[in-house]
Amino acid sequence: MAIQFEGHIFHLTTAHTLYQMGVDAFGILHHLWYGEKTDCSMCYLYDYPDVGFSGNPYDAGKLRTYSMDTLPLEYAAVGNGDYRVAAAAAVHADGSCALDLRYESYKIYDGKYAIPGLPAVYAEDAQAQTLEICLRDEYSGLRVILRYGVLEAVDVITRSVVFENGGSEAVTLKRAHSVCLALHDGAWDWMHFHGRHTMERQMERRALFHGIQQIESTRGTSSHQQNPALILCEQDCTETSGLCIGAALMYSGSFQAQIEVDQLGQARMVMGIHPEQFSWNLEVGERFYTPEVILSCSTQGLGRLSQQFHSVIRNHVCRGDYKLSARPILINNWEATYFDFNEEKILSIAKQASELDIDLMVLDDGWFGKRDDDCSGLGDWTVNEQKLKGGLGALVEKINALGMRFGLWFEPEMVSEDSDLYRAHPDWALRIPGRDPVRSRYQLVLDLSREEVREYLYESMSKLLRENHIEYVKWDMNRSICDWYSAALAPERQAELPHRYVLGLYELLERLTGEFPHVLFEGCSGGGGRFDAGMLYYCPQIWCSDDTDAHERTFIQYGTSFFYPVSTVGSHVSAVPNHQTGRMTAIGTRGTVAMAGSFGYELDLNLLSEEEKQTVAEQVKKYRELQPLIYDGAYFRLSDPYTDGMAAWAFVAEDQSRALVQGVIYRAASNTLRRRLRLRGLDAKAHYHINGGEQTYTGSALMAGGVLLPKIAGDDVAFELYIERV
Ligand code: GLA
Repeated sequence: MAIQFEGHIFHLTTAHTLYQMGVDAFGILHHLWYGEKTDCSMCYLYDYPDVGFSGNPYDAGKLRTYSMDTLPLEYAAVGNGDYRVAAAAAVHADGSCALDLRYESYKIYDGKYAIPGLPAVYAEDAQAQTLEICLRDEYSGLRVILRYGVLEAVDVITRSVVFENGGSEAVTLKRAHSVCLALHDGAWDWMHFHGRHTMERQMERRALFHGIQQIESTRGTSSHQQNPALILCEQDCTETSGLCIGAALMYSGSFQAQIEVDQLGQARMVMGIHPEQFSWNLEVGERFYTPEVILSCSTQGLGRLSQQFHSVIRNHVCRGDYKLSARPILINNWEATYFDFNEEKILSIAKQASELDIDLMVLDDGWFGKRDDDCSGLGDWTVNEQKLKGGLGALVEKINALGMRFGLWFEPEMVSEDSDLYRAHPDWALRIPGRDPVRSRYQLVLDLSREEVREYLYESMSKLLRENHIEYVKWDMNRSICDWYSAALAPERQAELPHRYVLGLYELLERLTGEFPHVLFEGCSGGGGRFDAGMLYYCPQIWCSDDTDAHERTFIQYGTSFFYPVSTVGSHVSAVPNHQTGRMTAIGTRGTVAMAGSFGYELDLNLLSEEEKQTVAEQVKKYRELQPLIYDGAYFRLSDPYTDGMAAWAFVAEDQSRALVQGVIYRAASNTLRRRLRLRGLDAKAHYHINGGEQTYTGSALMAGGVLLPKIAGDDVAFELYIERV
């Protein structure tokens, strides 16, 4: 049994970790432990002094050492004498704002709970157990049901919360976080993944300080600027040793994660929907479901933690026909043509691609409506016959006749003012009456909280998918959201709009991906602006970044790898000089970097030299052969690109019989020793060949001593070692 309740203590056990909570005599639920298995109740670790200015609950009487302001609360609320960051806040019908959450009951059942309308980790009944702990605020009757999904084998515990109005008057939720996690002390580091458009998920690791540190997005999407995921780790934690806890929010809208180190040096982390853009009217009898947070803990360092997240995301988040299977190698025309194409041009790229054995041609932005640049056309999802003279069907047929599959770009959530859709339904765009809206890339955002808007999008997209042989969809979203106002919501419900937008998006995605399970949906938001576990529930891969420069990509993919498996990382070889940075890198380097993901090309292949075409053909062949190892192997980060002067990573087969080691050395240097790279994950006792050479090495030598990397000439030179057991 992964979940047990004994003597007021809840034990949630996974293969390598223990999560423990206890209910005290006042009915307060304490967090006791998240870390390695101890076979013991950990409540002995908590012994509080009488802290001045930390008040006491009324029923604690003279017990001045008992304070909400110091206890390691499992789920903290505003207004009960706890002055630290809170997970929940509610305003009652009388205008007061306090919650005093006391234990009421619990429930344990086999299987993993689902969340109505929201993506969630799923599992077979035999793979997971659920714990529900019901807390109640007696004054208002509001119930707060904490849900824990324990996936024992993958060392994962999910958390989500249900607010249920069991009182006699409406309540307004002001803050409804998905997780609250207490750490016994604050001597930890935290890691987060910040960035910007074309430079997402840059890893930053800092020591916690007293006070609040936070990451957030108020952009309506999870954002390029901060990924909705963070790691707490002990200060001596490395890739291969030490305790660390990861938290990934399965949500694609505005979010907040805060960590506070309090006056006693204890830490608390909360994470969920951003409260600044949130308010929810909960009528009597109604429920509100928060999104889910995936928690995982490793006692063996960050590498192991990442592998746990890769496993849960790949096996228990991603869905559909492409969940575990090989993805088509694709060619996308965006960087090849931008808006300037016609049928002939697309066919010429496809023809060359088919000769190089590429699987699928993606027609990107510009094929629809009046769309010759980014000023117009969004919302009009009918083919632009001036560019594609014979229509879409004819183009698809011609591409299929080349032996290639066909994929199409959409940006469903957007509308251009210069579009038939906007002219017909100006109120379908988010804008505040009487104010000019904020434009971004000249476009406005459709109100996805409205059913008729979703219906329009469903009809336009499904018609195209039904009438044409489309096997891939790129679902783009190219701006941050502002002007939150829905023409269809009452004033007192406008603050619900950001969350209703996300619910609407998920509903539309669920409907389309459910109806077209054979279509591969790739998520995108100006590259990786909405790269989160929520989107991965619908789209098993996401275009990782609009930055296709191989050098910068190694940093982006490094940060991405802490939570997300390579199968989710859309990655393409593009032209040089690179369109984002102007940097020149060899086609071999571009290929190696793109292969650490779901691989493709994004350039006009006709412009390549014969030699480069030959290289492309070899890369395609190699990726096809190695894809099972890349997808199914355990992923290891072998260097820190920020400090080691190179990026290096490896994929190791589960049976340790082979490994692919890849990387890029950033700068050549004269008169230096060859670099040494220590491998991981091999069988210490086994003997291995490298790149088919005669010499053999033991796994222990390759892991302790490492391999000597080739001497390089020039900058940004890739290397690749294929390690095979003798
Ligand atoms: C976004 C995407 C690109 C491309 C363009 C088209 O920026 O990330 O890959 O599809 O939109 O407008």
